[in-house]
Amino acid sequence: MQRSRGISVQDQIQLEVLPMRRRHIKGVMAIEEQVYPRPWSANLFLTEMAEPANRAYFVGRVHRQVVAYGGVLCFGDEGHVTTIAVDPNFHRHKIGTRVIYELVAAAIEMGARAISLEVRVSNWPAQRLYGEFGFRPVGVRKNYYAEINEDALIMWVDDVQTADYLDRIEDIIESLPEGVRPLQPLSERSRA
Ligand SMILES: CC(C)(COP(=O)(O)OP(=O)(O)OC[C@H]1O[C@@H](n2cnc3c(N)ncnc32)[C@H](O)[C@@H]1OP(=O)(O)O)[C@@H](O)C(=O)NCCC(=O)NCCS
Repeated sequence: MQRSRGISVQDQIQLEVLPMRRRHIKGVMAIEEQVYPRPWSANLFLTEMAEPANRAYFVGRVHRQVVAYGGVLCFGDEGHVTTIAVDPNFHRHKIGTRVIYELVAAAIEMGARAISLEVRVSNWPAQRLYGEFGFRPVGVRKNYYAEINEDALIMWVDDVQTADYLDRIEDIIESLPEGVRPLQPLSERSRA
């Protein structure tokens, strides 16, 4: 059984997803520093959060503990996922899937028609996750992660405003465990 600060992850996870705020940064940084060789600074998160017109940053919390986060920005009709991570104690519980869903949904709401991201070429777990959302490899940025001497794969998904794509992502979230699934899917949010 994995435990993290007293939480048994065998119990059903009740995930809440909230817009990232200054008070979440400490929890975000604790994960950031564990999972990235070149962590963002707290100030970089704060600067990103200060531009809500074309950026959306979220945290996922379990029992009020930050266990995941992600961000997306949008210029014109192109969205770009800037960051995503889940606390290693909470991996493989579909929390990353839920965070990607929120980022894609936010990009769509900001007007994106396509979304891109970069991922380490060796990070196939993340690539699998992105593949479920239709992201496909379209190129390589040589030595993008210079500190670990690794290339980045550029992944891209088109036509995210189409009914087919919305159906695809709604199917994904319908299959999520109840405590991780959003209360309101994107289709109902946009009708509200
Ligand atoms: C990538 C990451 C966000 C995934 O988060 P997660 O909550 O564990 O992912 P999920 O449980 O939603 O996984 C969804 C699917 O992704 C794939 N996947 C995720 N982690 C995997 C792993 N370690 N091995 C194989 N497949 C994996 C699987 O297809 C999985 O579905 P399944 O569990 O039904 O097989 C998480 O591993 C992470 O934070 N890694 C460190 C930071 C990072 O690499 N971020 C991405 C940078 S671009």
